[in-house]
Order: sequence, then C-alpha cells, then structure tokens
Amino acid sequence: MARWVLVLALVGAWWEPAEPVEPPRCTAAGRCAAAGSGPSEHNYIVDGLTVFLEYTDSRYFKIICPKGLTLDNSALPSFESQLRVSQVYFTDCPSPQSSYAEVLERLNVVVLDKLSLTNVSNLTAAHFAQLQHVLALELYKAALAPRALAALPQLQRLHLDSVRVAPGELRHLPHSLEKLDLVRMGTNVTAADLAALPHLAKLVVIDGPNVRVEMGPELRVLSLDMLDVVLPRELGPKLLNLTVLGWAELRPAPWLQCALESLDARFVKVEVLPAGWLQRCAALRSLRVEMAELPLRLEPGALRGAAKLEEIRLMSTALQYLPPGLLDDAPELKLLDLRHNRLLELPGGLFAKTNKLETLNLSSNQFTHSVLSSLTAVTSLVTLDVSRNDLHDSCGNKTDVIRGSSPLQYLTKLRELRLSKTNSSMICRDWRENMPHLKTLDLTYNSFEYITFADMQFNGIVDVTVDLQGNNISTLEYTRDNYEYAVNVVDAASPRAQLKLPATLRCDCHDYWAARAFHERPTHVAAEPRCAGGGKLGRAPDALECAGAPTGVTCGAPCACAWRPGPRPVLRVRCAGAGLRSVRAAVAAVRAPRGPPVDWELYLADNRIDRVDLDDLPHNLTVLDLRNNSVSSLSATTASELVKHGLRLADNPLACDCGAADTLAVLRAGLQDAAAARCAAGGALLQARPAPCARWPAPALGAAAALATLLACGALLAAAWRQPGLRLRLKAALHRRGWLPAQPEPEDDARRFDVFVSFSHGDERFVRQLAARLESGPAPYRLCLHYRDWAPGGWIPAQIAASVRASRRTVAVVSEHFLRSSWARAEFQEAHALALRDARPRLVVVLLDDPARLPLDDRLRRYLATNTYVRWGDPWFWEKLYLALPRGRGPAPPRPRPRPPRWRRARRPRWTSRLPRWTARTPR
Ligand SMILES: *[C@@H]1O[C@H](CO)[C@@H](O)[C@H](O)[C@H]1NC(C)=O
Ligand SMILES: *[C@@H]1O[C@H](CO)[C@@H](O)[C@H](O)[C@H]1NC(C)=O
Ligand SMILES: *[C@@H]1O[C@H](CO)[C@@H](O)[C@H](O)[C@H]1NC(C)=O
Ligand SMILES: *[C@@H]1O[C@H](CO)[C@@H](O)[C@H](O)[C@H]1NC(C)=O
Ligand SMILES: *[C@@H]1O[C@H](CO)[C@@H](O)[C@H](O)[C@H]1NC(C)=O
Ligand SMILES: *[C@@H]1O[C@H](CO)[C@@H](O)[C@H](O)[C@H]1NC(C)=O
Ligand SMILES: *[C@@H]1O[C@H](CO)[C@@H](O)[C@H](O)[C@H]1NC(C)=O
Repeated sequence: MARWVLVLALVGAWWEPAEPVEPPRCTAAGRCAAAGSGPSEHNYIVDGLTVFLEYTDSRYFKIICPKGLTLDNSALPSFESQLRVSQVYFTDCPSPQSSYAEVLERLNVVVLDKLSLTNVSNLTAAHFAQLQHVLALELYKAALAPRALAALPQLQRLHLDSVRVAPGELRHLPHSLEKLDLVRMGTNVTAADLAALPHLAKLVVIDGPNVRVEMGPELRVLSLDMLDVVLPRELGPKLLNLTVLGWAELRPAPWLQCALESLDARFVKVEVLPAGWLQRCAALRSLRVEMAELPLRLEPGALRGAAKLEEIRLMSTALQYLPPGLLDDAPELKLLDLRHNRLLELPGGLFAKTNKLETLNLSSNQFTHSVLSSLTAVTSLVTLDVSRNDLHDSCGNKTDVIRGSSPLQYLTKLRELRLSKTNSSMICRDWRENMPHLKTLDLTYNSFEYITFADMQFNGIVDVTVDLQGNNISTLEYTRDNYEYAVNVVDAASPRAQLKLPATLRCDCHDYWAARAFHERPTHVAAEPRCAGGGKLGRAPDALECAGAPTGVTCGAPCACAWRPGPRPVLRVRCAGAGLRSVRAAVAAVRAPRGPPVDWELYLADNRIDRVDLDDLPHNLTVLDLRNNSVSSLSATTASELVKHGLRLADNPLACDCGAADTLAVLRAGLQDAAAARCAAGGALLQARPAPCARWPAPALGAAAALATLLACGALLAAAWRQPGLRLRLKAALHRRGWLPAQPEPEDDARRFDVFVSFSHGDERFVRQLAARLESGPAPYRLCLHYRDWAPGGWIPAQIAASVRASRRTVAVVSEHFLRSSWARAEFQEAHALALRDARPRLVVVLLDDPARLPLDDRLRRYLATNTYVRWGDPWFWEKLYLALPRGRGPAPPRPRPRPPRWRRARRPRWTSRLPRWTARTPR
C-alpha cells in the first residue's frame, strides 16, 4: 500500500510539487509515541524521553537528543518513505554503538552532502563507515579519535569547531580536502600539515593568540581571524585572496613573494603603510584596510608596484591626509572609498592619472567645500558620496534666489550624488542641468529651508530621485509666473524628477502659489508636498495666510489681520466679538496709506453692529461677515449693494414686517447664509413673506368720512385761512388729526418712537411740561425721554445713538444748559448726522432763549441759519411744533412682559433689539 502511495507521489512529482514526506512513525508500540508537531518540527516520547525532530523535504533532517537517549535506541520513529536530504544534523546525541550509516538507515533517511554532529565525543573511523559519498562534515564540540576521518576519503569540506584531536592529526585528514575551517582548535597549522593536503585551496582559521599559520603550496584563499596575526614573509605562490582580521604588524615589510589579487585587512594594528610594501604584488586588484587601532599613515609610494589596483578602501583608519601623487601608482583605479576618516582635504593633482575612477566615497570625513574643487577634473565619476562633511553650499549663498553652478558641473557622468548631512541649503543648477544620467541625488538631513520652483526642474533627466527628507523645509517658493507655467506649460507626460519632501511645510501665505499649482495641476512635479500639520499643500490654497498684513498696510486693535498673496492680495480683517457697534470701527483699524490694492474680507461676527452704511465699507470687499450682530433693518438699496460683497447675516434680529418686503427679497436671493438667517419675530428668513404695507392708515370708509367733514367745513376754513394766526392753528389741528396730507415716511413706520426729546438735565421741568402736552390729545406722540426710557447704567453714547435712530424726530431743547452738556451736544450731532444722511428733516430745534444770547457753536449756528426752529415764548409755539413733527401715532404698543430673564435674541420683537436695555414702559 505504502509503496503504491510512493509510486503515485513520484509520478505526481512530474507535474506538481512533490508530496511532503509523511512524518516518521513510531513502530515500537508502548515505547514511542508522537507528541505534537509544527510545520516542520515533530516531538516524540521515546522511552519516556522527549525527542525533538525537524526536517524539510530534500533540505535537511535534524534530531536533538535528550539526555539519556542514544541513536541506537530501536524505539526511535522512522520514515515510511525514504527522506532524502542534503544535510543531516545530530545534536547532543552521544556517539552510537553502530555507525551513522546504520542509524540513518534505521530512520530511513539518506544524506547526500553534509553531516553535522554537535556535542559528541569518542568519534572513531567506524562511525563514518559507509558514508564515503558524504562531501562535507561539520563537527562542533566533538572529540575525534586518531585517524577517525580516514573513512571519508572523498571529503571535500571539513569544518572543525572546538574539536579535540590528537597532536599532528591535521596531516591525517582526508587528502581530498579542498576547504578547511579550523575554529577554536588551538593548534598551529604548519607548512607540513598543509603539504599533506594537496588539494586544499581555502583555509579559514579563527582562533586565539599563540596560533601560527603557515602557507601551503595550493592555498588560494586564506582567511585568518586571530589576535595579533603575523603573516609569513613569503605568501603562498598561488594565494590570491588574503583576509586578515587582527593583523598586528605596525609597519608591514614587503613580501618576498605575493601573488595576491585581493588583500582585506581589518582590525589592524598597522600604523604605517610604507613605500613599496606592495611592490611584489603586481596582480593586486583590491586593497582594503579597515578599522585601524592606531591612526593610519600612508607614505608616498605606498601603492608603488601595485599597478593593477582597481579598488582601494581605506575605511575607519583615522587617516588624516594622503601623500601627494599617491594614486599615480594606481592608474586603473575604479573605486576609492575613504569613508570614516579624518581627512581635511585632498592633495592637489591626486586624480591626475586615475581617469577610470568611477566611485568615490569621501563620506564621514572633515572635508570643507573646497574638496569639491579637487574633484572638478574627475569627469569619469559615476558615483560620488561626500555625505557627512561640513561642506555648506558650493554654488552661492543661502539668500541667493538664483542658484549658480557647483564645482561638480563637469561631472556629467554622475548617476549617484550623495550630499547627505553636508549643511547644504540649495540645489545647485548644474545638478539639475549638467547631469543627464543622474538617478539619485541624496540631500537628506541638510539645512534646506525653502525650495523654489526652479529647484524642482530636472529637465531632461529621466527617473532621478531627489531625496530632501530630513530637512526643515518650510516653504515651496513659487512666483505667480511659476504657477502659471506649472499649470499651463508643464507637460505632465514628460519625465520628471521624483522629489521626496519632508512633511514640514508651514503652509502659510508664502506657499500660496505653490499650493495653487499643486491644487490645479498636482502632477506638474512628481512630489507630494505636505504641511507640518500633515495635510497636503494643495488642499485649500485660498485658506493659506500669514498673520499681519502685506507691506504698506498696518492693522490695529481691536482687529487681527491676516493676508495672502494672489492675483490681488487678500486682506482678512477679523474683529469677531470685539464689542464693535459699527463697521466703520473695523475698517478704521486698518491703515493702508501706500499699501497695494487688496481684496478685503471683513469678519465681524459676534459684535453689536446694528446698521451698515455703505460709505463705511472698503472697496473690493468680498466677505462681510455680520453674523450674530444687531442688524434689524436695511434699506433695499443697501441690502442689494451688500449682497454683492458676500454678506452673512445669521443670528441678527431682522425685521420681517411689511415695510421690509423689498429688503427681504434681496436678502433671500443674495445672502451667503440665507438659510441660517432668521427674523426677529421668529421664523426663518427664507419663509418670511410679509404683505406690502397699506398706504393709508385708516380704511377707505374713514377717509370718505373725513372728506365729507372737510367739504362741509370748506367755507368756514376758507374764511379762517386768511388770518395768519388762525391759519397756523387750523393747520396744526388738521395736521394733528392727520387730515393734512403728510409727507410719506416709509421707513419711519418701523421706528418705535415718534419723538426723542434731547435736553439737558437743567431743563427737565420744561421738558416734563412739553411731554405732558405732546403725549396727550387726539393723536398722542410716543416720546422717548431719557429719564424714563433709558436703561439705568446703560452706556450713554450707545443709548443716544439708539434713541435717535429709534425715533422719527429728535426734538433738541436748546438752552444754555444744553450747550454746556456734552451728552446733549452728542445727541444733537447724532440726530443731525442722521438727518443729513436721510435727507429728511429729522431734527427739530426748540430754543428756550434768544439765539443771540446763547453761546452757540458754529455747527449749531449754521444749522439755525438754514433750518427753521421753534422758539419757546412764540405765541404760536405749539402750532409750529406740531407742524414740525409728524403725526402722533397714539400710545405705544404694549411691551411683552414679563421680560425674559435672559436675552433671547431671536425671539425679541424687533423694536427692542434697537435699544437693547430699554426699561419696560407702560403706555399712558
Ligand atoms: C551535550 O550532550 C549531553 C547529552 O548527550 C547533554 O547533557 C549536554 O548538556 C550537552 N552539552 C552541551 C554543551 O550542549
Ligand atoms: C570514550 O572512550 C573512552 C575509551 O575509549 C572511554 O573511557 C570514555 O568513557 C568514552 N567517553 C564517552 C563519552 O563515551
Ligand atoms: C605555535 O607555534 C609557536 C611558534 O611558532 C609557538 O610559540 C606556539 O606555542 C605554538 N602554539 C601551539 C598552540 O602549539
Ligand atoms: C577573492 O576576493 C575577491 C574580492 O574580495 C572576490 O571577489 C573573489 O571572489 C575572491 N576569490 C575567491 C577565489 O574566493
Ligand atoms: C559611502 O559610505 C557611507 C558610509 O560612510 C555609506 O553609507 C554609503 O553607502 C557609501 N556610499 C556609496 C555610494 O557606497
Ligand atoms: C553671502 O552673501 C553675503 C552678502 O551678500 C556675503 O557677505 C557673504 O560672504 C556670502 N557668503 C558666501 C559663503 O558666499
Ligand atoms: C478694486 O478692484 C479693481 C479690479 O478688481 C481695481 O481696479 C481697483 O483698483 C480696486 N480698488 C481698490 C481700492 O483696491
């Protein structure tokens, strides 16, 4: 049955991977049992001891014996189908009674190449019987009986590590040996030993001091790793490769015979390489001296005679200088590696004769930028590494924007240029333009602070990788022209440099044009610039900004400015939550007497701004953020102008009554945040659709009745009209009843008061009298009186402005007291300004005295000269006053009460929002 399986497996091997060999089976019932397995490991319990077994088909088989188990044990498991492997390992298994060949046969394992025995003593020739075909033997921690290996006459490779052998046993090793490793053997290797091994080509000796190794006639490769090696004067006639670790000659003398092609000396105590020490080594191609215990010195002529040298490595030898003309003796030199030394400079003309030099490694020395000048003429170079030297820039100054060429500009064959950790800060022009074969430009860990667009143009170089990682590059400097070139001209299909940039960009206004280029044409350079914060540079170019303002513009409290360049620079003025009452205050914080024209963005959210004057706005405004302010009404004209400038009005108590219908239509269509804007009375702006206001306050019936009365009294009136006093009185009476056609005052309907009485404290008695009269009668006026209607403790200038604006007229009671009171004068000015702006008579002056006796200032004098006023004491005082005022609208509507404990902006009726802290008032 098993045989059939094997046959099938072999046939199957023709067209699919061989079936893995089944793990060995226990046959001795009761003495052997499988105890778990992994992919290639298998445990068995044999006579109560755990045996560890490992194998992979055709590669190796390994047994680790527990203490007390021998390979003679008949209960060991065995493979049902034969396992053929190239190597077999027996570890910790004492030497068996039988031979290893018999042991392997019992296990059903065939070894094809190498047998490896670890921790085994008393090995005799009998143990190796019938293993003639084995080519390699490894013994670790073993003891060999005399002539024990005589049974392996075809052995080619022998590795002895810590193996006890009888003295002189080396010369009884199989004659067939080609390679011999002697590790920790503690025995000298004499010429006689080696003479007995006629085929031995490669000898490796790793040992302590006190061990001497002589030369054999056939030796071609010798590797010595010992303390204090002293080499024989005469190297073997066929010795090509010599590796010496621990060479202890301070000043090697020339060998009498030297056929070496390669000499590799490490951990040397050599102090001087004198002139002519290689003079017999005419075939030497490769010389390596590495890790000197003492600073190494080369004498002039140190390479004399070794005219075929192609590779020289003098590494980590504390070399401080090279003698002039050193390389004149090595005209075939292709590689020079001087890494990790203390060289300050190279002697002049060092490379005069080395016109085949391709690879030069000068890294980790103490060179300065002058070293590059020594390389100007080495035009054969393909690989140059000058990393870890304090070179600084070799093509100009850090501050130069136009980069020059470096002394390497003639090295046009370079494929690899490494300048890592050289304190460089710029990419020289020749690296981009003169080196068409460049594949690697290593500029990592340098002092680059910015990269220009030009720095990234490796035109015509196919597949170059420019590594700039480990630099603190804050800026990619593109001009506007660069941006336009990148977006419009660069051919994305043409080969470009692959740039590896660190993620350290500041991504501020200086990166703006680069960001736009990467935003619009991410492929114009093969790079992925990233900000220090992690995001990609090209993500949102418009958001990039620098704090402050462009040159020529200053920005003061309470606003913070930021700007970025662009087709026109953008100035962002941020005054959110700065307690502002007008846009003008924000604009005034910025001064740009000679600044460039900029596009403004005004961020004024969370202030107390309640109106917007177009005159206050800067030119070229693109954002006007007035969210969470106190704007309640705008004229339709103002609104349609503002929405052109990116107006945002969420969280303002917008008046959505009939008078605002036009404005609301404009805002709905043009507001940036129309969806978030709300009406003061509640409800979304988008839903507010107030009906147009009725033109005539009374219904048509009332108008008809009034007309009838008028006709009836026609004759009487006509008669009375001829008397001036009577006419005035009649006019006033008609006016007060609304029977005279009043001038339409469309915007006034929204105002809370009819009259704001502005007066000085000293005239309060008069004012109480005035108020009593005006607030009574058929059409009582709604008066605003500061002693009654102002919030105690409110900010007076704010209350003045609010009162003036909330009233259809301001009556200024001008007296000597008035003229001395700064608050009263401020009220007058506010009302005057409003009157001028609206081109409507807003201000009514009541003079308590003869103007000639009052200390009027110029402004008031001019006002009185061109405007009518009412003088107290005039017999027609009341009539004139009534005519100067609009018709009273009757008692004020009741106020909501109780007042909400906290200020709830969106729910507040619009008229309270103008005067935020007005105290409650009962209508009289
Ligand atoms: C050598 O093998 C024996 C068992 O045969 C074992 O007891 C011993 O620990 C091993 N020595 C080493 C150094 O592995
Ligand atoms: C090796 O053989 C010697 C005698 O031939 C014997 O005395 C010694 O015990 C043996 N050692 C082992 C570990 O078998
Ligand atoms: C090896 O030979 C040297 C003399 O050439 C001798 O001093 C040394 O002791 C020898 N070492 C051994 C381990 O026999
Ligand atoms: C000798 O050394 C060189 C370089 O060290 C190596 O390329 C070559 O393969 C070696 N030759 C032999 C025979 O080991
Ligand atoms: C030059 O030597 C440095 C070690 O200092 C090594 O890292 C680098 O890879 C070498 N350069 C080349 C081009 O082999
Ligand atoms: C860099 O430029 C400055 C002024 O232009 C000059 O003083 C300085 O010497 C320059 N440095 C180098 C290394 O050329
Ligand atoms: C506003 O922008 C226009 C062009 O967009 C420009 O001509 C004008 O000078 C700008 N005005 C100011 C004051 O910046």
